[in-house]
Amino acid sequence: MEKRDELYKGKAKSVYTTDDPNSLIMLFRNDTSAFDGKKREQLARKGMVNNKFNAFIMEKLHAAGVETHFIRLLNDQESLVKRLQMLPLECVVRNLAAGSVCRRLGVQEGLELNPPTFEFFLKNDELGDPMVNDYHIRSFGWAEPDQVEKMKQLTFQVNDVLKQLFLDGGMLLVDYKLEFGLFEGRVVLGDEFTPDGCRLWDRETRKKLDKDRFRQGLGDVVESYEEVGRRLGIQFD
Ligand code: TMP
Ligand code: ASP
Repeated sequence: MEKRDELYKGKAKSVYTTDDPNSLIMLFRNDTSAFDGKKREQLARKGMVNNKFNAFIMEKLHAAGVETHFIRLLNDQESLVKRLQMLPLECVVRNLAAGSVCRRLGVQEGLELNPPTFEFFLKNDELGDPMVNDYHIRSFGWAEPDQVEKMKQLTFQVNDVLKQLFLDGGMLLVDYKLEFGLFEGRVVLGDEFTPDGCRLWDRETRKKLDKDRFRQGLGDVVESYEEVGRRLGIQFD
């Protein structure tokens, strides 16, 4: 597999073309950002931890029947993935209230949401990733109605698999964000699943073990990601 040009540089990952037009290399950097890029820092080991964390989760999801872009780990900070045509949307499921939903709706952090709720956000940093609904998606042509339904169905299927996986490790999956793309016309899970894009709390103490540690300046960010991984049985070195 030959690495060629940088195709895209995000806030925490870079994507490269390869000699295979259908495959890309995803590089997890140590860069960490929050608040749509307004807070940025380099955190040692984070690229490696997130790359291995993502590989573990993507393999679990594949085994549960969720089609993902993940092909295989290449090295500490890089993975090979299928090239998707990304849909410009972020799919969020919330099992417990935290973050923006608390600010928007004035609900207390930790409120249990029964049933879990779903939100779409438009992927656009300049606009601060605004929340959008099914009608916006249709009217502005960001995705087709059947793709919208598929994204919802897959995002909830991921919830069934991962809620239990984290619970078995003594953690609560509070919320998470997924991104999807098209591969040969099918809606396929892309991007990543790491503690950068979800909230995880210790089941007993409700200690935050995810990127809120960075957002809120709580310290031990990568140490917490590794703790989550260790509880799931992930080997980092
Ligand atoms: P929120 O509370 O900020 O709306 O985020 C909900 C969850 O989705 C939280 O785990 C963080 C994740 N998320 C991202 O990782 N990136 C984003 O751009 C958004 C909107 C959410
Ligand atoms: N909106 C997410 C956060 O606040 C992602 C980002 O902006 O980088 O962390």
